[in-house]
Amino acid sequence: MIEIKDTHFIQDGTYQACYRHPENKKLCIKISKLELSKSRLLNELKHFKKISKRNYNKFDYMFFTKYHGQVDTNLGIGYVFDLITDETTSQISRTMKYYILNPNPKITDDILRKAFDDLINLMVKHRIIANDLRSKNICCKIFKDESMKMIIVDGIGHRDFIPIVEWSSYFAKKKIERRLIKHKLYDIQAQRTYLQNLVE
Ligand SMILES: Nc1ncnc2c1ncn2[C@@H]1O[C@H](COP(=O)(O)OP(=O)(O)OP(=O)(O)O)[C@@H](O)[C@H]1O
Ligand SMILES: [Mg+2]
Repeated sequence: MIEIKDTHFIQDGTYQACYRHPENKKLCIKISKLELSKSRLLNELKHFKKISKRNYNKFDYMFFTKYHGQVDTNLGIGYVFDLITDETTSQISRTMKYYILNPNPKITDDILRKAFDDLINLMVKHRIIANDLRSKNICCKIFKDESMKMIIVDGIGHRDFIPIVEWSSYFAKKKIERRLIKHKLYDIQAQRTYLQNLVE
């Protein structure tokens, strides 16, 4: 059994709490907060099972956190994923939401826009949908050369009974476009206004 301590805590949200893996600094462990959110996680895991049959080497870069199976912990069942850290500092990467709300001269809106477009293009190309495509579920990984890439850390999958979006980039694109509108992600400034007016 893996012993998770308070010092491993990274962040929690509505559905799950995220901890550093005590034995592997490249991984994190997510613990479901409510019974209710289990179905959300299990849906995500079902998609990982399907996606894992794909050849990740064909991706321009790994644009979502890989799932590494479940473990027993002192806090209950834990689900293990890649941990996203910045190469420059080894710190846990900040989210797209963070950079939109905390302007940073190194991560301008243009850089955010370009990285986000790249991410969306990869999702369409590889027909990978994120049900909960929001700026807080996307980490901005900074590389040694100071370039940045966006990585989805939560909510991979969809809930369609007939998985047409997994077969066709056209339908994947349509679905992703609907998510962008729903979560005001079609434009960085629109996202900033939306986040500023959110009461959480
Ligand atoms: N693999 C990861 N690497 C780095 N940071 C992560 C990772 N997974 C999650 N985080 C951080 O932890 C936060 C919460 O994680 P997650 O989105 O999985 O939980 P949640 O319950 O869905 O939260 P929320 O309701 O805020 O979306 C994320 O917003 C992100 O800042
Ligand atoms: Mg989340």
